[in-house]
Amino acid sequence: MQLLGVGRDADVFALGPDRVLRRYRDPGRSAEREAAVMAYARSHGVPVPEVFDVDGPDLVLERADGPTMADALVRRPWTLARQAGVLATLHRAVHAVPAPDWLDRRVGTGDALLHLDLHPENVLMTAAGPTVIDWTNAARGPAEVDVADTWLVLSAARVPGPAWRAATVAAAQGTFARTFRRAAGLDLGPALPTAAARRLADRNLDGRERQRIARLAGVADGGG
Ligand SMILES: Nc1ncnc2c1ncn2[C@@H]1O[C@H](COP(=O)(O)OP(=O)(O)O)[C@@H](O)[C@H]1O
Ligand SMILES: [Mg+2]
Repeated sequence: MQLLGVGRDADVFALGPDRVLRRYRDPGRSAEREAAVMAYARSHGVPVPEVFDVDGPDLVLERADGPTMADALVRRPWTLARQAGVLATLHRAVHAVPAPDWLDRRVGTGDALLHLDLHPENVLMTAAGPTVIDWTNAARGPAEVDVADTWLVLSAARVPGPAWRAATVAAAQGTFARTFRRAAGLDLGPALPTAAARRLADRNLDGRERQRIARLAGVADGGG
């Protein structure tokens, strides 16, 4: 099987021209909940790959042909403002959906469907439009926490690359984060500490990212 993507928890393989297999590396982990969220979001009009099958750690999905929004940004940096607008529009489309009642409320009161990892690495740019993947973190709650989460990731993530390019990338990242936040148009103040606490619970963040997230949200980093 041709390997299309390797993530922290899952590998993604091509299954012929039209489908992919997303397999959790932990064979004991179930993709059931993720499949249900994806099917639910799709049935409510959010652009999400179709779910064909789920079996234990395996998820068979419609193949979305195209680069990630992150790759598209590197290739066409002049489209930055437009892509930031597309990302904000995707957030709005997700949050317009009332969450199903079986989805847990982990990040405060509210009834919107939240993705909680909706950044340019999890948007695939297909000929038919952008599509949202990687629904592992989906929850029910206030839209502001989802937007705050993305804004923190955009502002704090360290994009790998050569040192000579780092300053340019950092500037573009800052502009992208600002443009996205403005386009989303929500008051993130109260949601930032909640979103930051969730991100800081991730033991895989490097020290610099932790510091930045804590500083941006005005909270203390509990260590890690
Ligand atoms: N439906 C899909 N169609 C085509 N490629 C996909 C699809 N889902 C995932 N991928 C590929 O696999 C990569 C990782 O998938 P993702 O669901 O984001 O998992 P991770 O948890 O590893 O981030 C994506 O960046 C993309 O290259
Ligand atoms: Mg991903």
